[in-house]
Amino acid sequence: MKNICVFASGFGSNFQAIIDACKKKKIKKGHVTLLITDNKNAYARQRARKAGIDQIYCNPKDFPSKKDWEKHLGSILKKHRIDLVVLAGFMRILSPYFVRQFKDKTINIHPALLPAFPGAHAIKDAFDYGVKVTGVTVHFIDEKVDHGPIILQESLEVKKTDSLKTLEKKIHKVEHRLYPKAINILLSGKYRIRNSRKVSL
Ligand code: GRF
Repeated sequence: MKNICVFASGFGSNFQAIIDACKKKKIKKGHVTLLITDNKNAYARQRARKAGIDQIYCNPKDFPSKKDWEKHLGSILKKHRIDLVVLAGFMRILSPYFVRQFKDKTINIHPALLPAFPGAHAIKDAFDYGVKVTGVTVHFIDEKVDHGPIILQESLEVKKTDSLKTLEKKIHKVEHRLYPKAINILLSGKYRIRNSRKVSL
């Protein structure tokens, strides 16, 4: 079994979806063994407690520099023998220093069809722009923000009747299905990254 570490800063609904998918064997070759959070009050922490998953609160403000914080994260991941790092609503940007060490082992989920609408308000940005189609992207991280080889994407239609709220609901529903699916593919080893750019499945 491979060890998954989830990084989350808030509500943690994707974290929960991954825990549930492991339980239901939708993720066949892995289990979540660790939660890392930068937010003391993240609801994700309660989810970890309930699921009996180890958790570590680790705030960059408690370290002399971002590099020291990331070094510390790296040592935690090594100590816990983590095979895959899953960013799920983690609201910090990881620097190239961290990315270099865990590049092909760290994935992120973004609530839009990258490269459209990167950033922290993707659903609202897409909705306000008036797009007719948006979606969800799961990708490996690289040195740029919301960027890196795309593993899976799923689109969904923005209906005339949609409000920002209904769209958010639909996006999250897709996320909770797509993230476990991507993790299952990665842990099965059925993929290849070509030229650090494209993922073949
Ligand atoms: C999700 O929409 C994810 O795509 C984005 O942050 C949100 C996290 O939600 N990166 P949750 O904490 O998993 O509920």
